[in-house]
Order: sequence, then C-alpha cells, then structure tokens
Amino acid sequence: MFSTRLPSSLVPSPLAAAVAARRARPGRLIDLTQSNPTTAGVAYPETLAAAWSNVAALRYAPDPRGLATARAAVADWHASVGDVIDADRLILTASTSEAYSHLFKLLCNPGDRVLVPCPSYPLFEHLAQLDAVAVDRYTFRDAGRWELDQADLRDRITPRTRALVVVSPNNPTGSVPSPAEWAALADACRAHRLALIVDEVFAAYPLAPGVDYVRTPRLDDVLTFRLNGLSKLVGLPQAKLGWIVVEGPDGLARQALEALELIADTYLSVSTPVQLAAPTLIADGAVVRTAIAARLRANLAHLMTRVAGTAVDVRMPEGGWSVVLRVPCVGEPDDLALALLARDVVVHPGYFYDLPHDGYLVLSLLAPEADMRAGLDVLCGLPLLQPA
Ligand SMILES: Cc1ncc(COP(=O)(O)O)c(C=O)c1O
Repeated sequence: MFSTRLPSSLVPSPLAAAVAARRARPGRLIDLTQSNPTTAGVAYPETLAAAWSNVAALRYAPDPRGLATARAAVADWHASVGDVIDADRLILTASTSEAYSHLFKLLCNPGDRVLVPCPSYPLFEHLAQLDAVAVDRYTFRDAGRWELDQADLRDRITPRTRALVVVSPNNPTGSVPSPAEWAALADACRAHRLALIVDEVFAAYPLAPGVDYVRTPRLDDVLTFRLNGLSKLVGLPQAKLGWIVVEGPDGLARQALEALELIADTYLSVSTPVQLAAPTLIADGAVVRTAIAARLRANLAHLMTRVAGTAVDVRMPEGGWSVVLRVPCVGEPDDLALALLARDVVVHPGYFYDLPHDGYLVLSLLAPEADMRAGLDVLCGLPLLQPA
C-alpha cells in the first residue's frame, strides 16, 4: 500500500521503547540526549515572541525566494561574522531539513545517490529516502581527532553520486575538516562534478579556544550550497526558518537559484509572520545564542574534569552541541545505555550516529548543568568505567 520511501518498519527500537516506558513513569530522569533548546532552561527575551505580532502579516505577498527584508537580515547576519554574501544568492526555507529536501529535488533523479559523513546525524538517511535518493557514507576515522579517510571517500563515489554533504562542525563529533581535508573534499567534487552541500547549523557554536565562528572555505569553481537556520542560530526550532546560500561558478549558481525558486514556489512553505519577524529574531536571539554557548562550554569543562582518572576518553569537539565519549566495549550495543537508564540517565549509544561499534556514547552538551553533573556522577560511578 505505502511507498518504499518510508522505513520498512515503524516499530521503535528496543532502546527507544525502554526510554519511552521510563519517561512515562514518574521520578527524576536525567536526559543527556536533550537537544531542544527551548526546554533546556535557557532564558528567552520576550521581544522574540512579540516579533510575531505584526499587522503586516495579514497581507499575503509571497516571494518564493523569501521576502527581501528577511533575506537582507540573513545576509547582514552572515556579514556580521565576516561572511559577506549577496542576499540575492539566498533561498529561504521552512527549516534546514526542508533545505536538504529542496536540494535533493534539485540535484537528484530517483535512485541517484548523495554522500553523507559517517559518523553523523541520523536524519540524512530519512530525508534522502523521502526524496527517493540513496545515501552512501564516507568516513571520518577516530584517530583522537576525526580524520577524513580519503581512500574511503574515493571508493564511495559512484556514477550516480550527485552531491557531497559536509557538516561543519559535525553532529555529533563536533569535528571540523582541516584545510587539507577541505581540499580533498573539494577535489572530489571537481573530479566527479558533485555539488557540495555544507551544513553550517553549528558554525556559530565553536568550542575550540580562540575560534569565534567556524568558517567554510570559499570554492569559486564548485557549485556549493551552505545551509543554516534559526533552529540552532537563535535556539528557535519552532520558528521554522532556514536558508540556503548558493555559491560557485556564476552561470551554474544562477541556474540553481532559478530552479530552487521553482521548487520553493511549488510549496511556498515559509510563513509570512516568521519572515517579517526575522530581523528581530536574528538580532534579539543573539542573547539566546550566547547563553547556549556558555552552557555548552561549562558542560564541556565540567566533563573534562569529571572523567579524569576514569576509563572514559573525551573526543574533544571543535564545535556544536554534543560530545562523543570513548568507553570500554561491553556486551550488546545497548547494554551501557540500558545500564544507565536503569539508573535514571538517558544517553545515546554511538551506533545511533553510525559510530563504528558499541564503545562510544554521545552526550548533549545542552543539558542543564545540574543534570550534566548528576548524570556524569552516575556514569563515572559505573564499575565498568573505573580504571583497571
Ligand atoms: C547537523 C544538523 N543539520 C540540520 C538539522 C535540522 O535543523 P532544522 O531544525 O533547521 O531542520 C539538525 C538538527 O538537529 C542538525 O543537527
């Protein structure tokens, strides 16, 4: 009855079912997978809510690329971090996820393929599948830092590969490609005529000392789509505003913009109220971003101190909202997460993000600091994690 764009089974995994059952029971649960900024105890200025009450929203005058005032606000924000872009090279979307969907429609016929990083965020597979596109994974290997495996990247490219997705900083590793790795990624795009899609949603959350923003190198000769949105930039996933910056060879970028305009025009999914609110949301949301960034840094600093002397190894993120921990391998992939759940702590096992085996856990650095402290006490108290 239903199409093969959907997963073959909609039954939750045993771990997801166990977490849902525990959530349904009363009692404190420490959620170290918390990734919703609006429920993480971060203060939001009321002007953000007021920005939606604009009588101008009662008039419908859509622009498929996004209202000029909203695009100008986005371009101004990019300029404020030293990333000068042309507002005419922007397409607004209802989210970064929708931006991916537009790009898969733009670049891929059914059955074509896109390369996504491994480890990475599990959403890509679903997004691609819903657009009848297949994903192949290219690997960043754990060598203390996450190193691009260039031979693996070459091996994964097929005649049907259309695009290469880079997430910088990556979710969940927080890794950023080095200049040499960016050069290899760009060479792969040139050699195989791939479009480059760079997900920058965590670029404004650097964690490495002395970095204020994680920049993507400009490639004038590769058709490039850079993605961002209010979801992470100002901690407002419910605002439903994302965007695509289209760059690369002039003629090709112009054609891509015209085609994206047609795709966006087919749905006109970006609401007028959020577009009118965008200048205020971006300006006043800076305090939310600052508060989130402070939370991430405080949690990471505490983590580093707390795990010292245990069998937990931190894979230092260069940016983003999460951290990968290397832990001893135990029995089945879910065993450690289930042992923690039995002690009222929720974590993600590494396989959730395609980490190679069960010796990894992923924690959200967005969790309230008291939860992070209590959760780490439980984790570090597990007999398994005591030094040999
Ligand atoms: C790397 C990455 N890209 C995109 C998204 C989706 O963002 P949006 O809420 O704009 O769809 C997420 C959400 O967590 C993400 O982690």
